[in-house]
Amino acid sequence: MIYPVTIIGHPILRKKAEEIDKDYPELEKIIANMFETIYSSDGVGLAAPQINKSIRIIVIDGEPMAEDDPDLTGFKKVFINPKMIEETGEEKLFNEGCLSIPGIREDVNRPSKIKLHYFDEDFVEHEEEFDGTKARIIQHEYDHLEGVLFTDRISPLRKKILKSKLMGISKGKFKATYRTILAK
Ligand code: NI
Repeated sequence: MIYPVTIIGHPILRKKAEEIDKDYPELEKIIANMFETIYSSDGVGLAAPQINKSIRIIVIDGEPMAEDDPDLTGFKKVFINPKMIEETGEEKLFNEGCLSIPGIREDVNRPSKIKLHYFDEDFVEHEEEFDGTKARIIQHEYDHLEGVLFTDRISPLRKKILKSKLMGISKGKFKATYRTILAK
């Protein structure tokens, strides 16, 4: 099942998502559906608040970007209850987009290395380091679990320029090839 995607302005995108345990109802199905949702919308990552669930699940499949960034070949992952342990390395700009903010892309500055604690889809615990585009995708999705959007991280000037556009998007002024959920 392909989920509709919550759009900027929807309050769930501003909530800190809750941890889950391995008995969370239909967990396997939710994860499969989240992958189906990114494949149908040409995304590379999705966090549960974007499918209107305030829980700490991220799915990523970097394959569509692997042609430009071979490092992402086979980078398909599920992160449950992730905790960012550290973000280090040089800050880098990267042009980000988001299924919850259709039509907008902006350069965002983030540290280039992370260390993450998480559980995988089988609830096996991991502590792992990521860098490059892998780290970038995780940081973007991790922000969703904290109620943060990439447009919060752009310069004050860019924010000012985008303000009315983002307001319009929150009210439905955008084109998307996937189903969406607006704030009531
Ligand atoms: Ni996003």
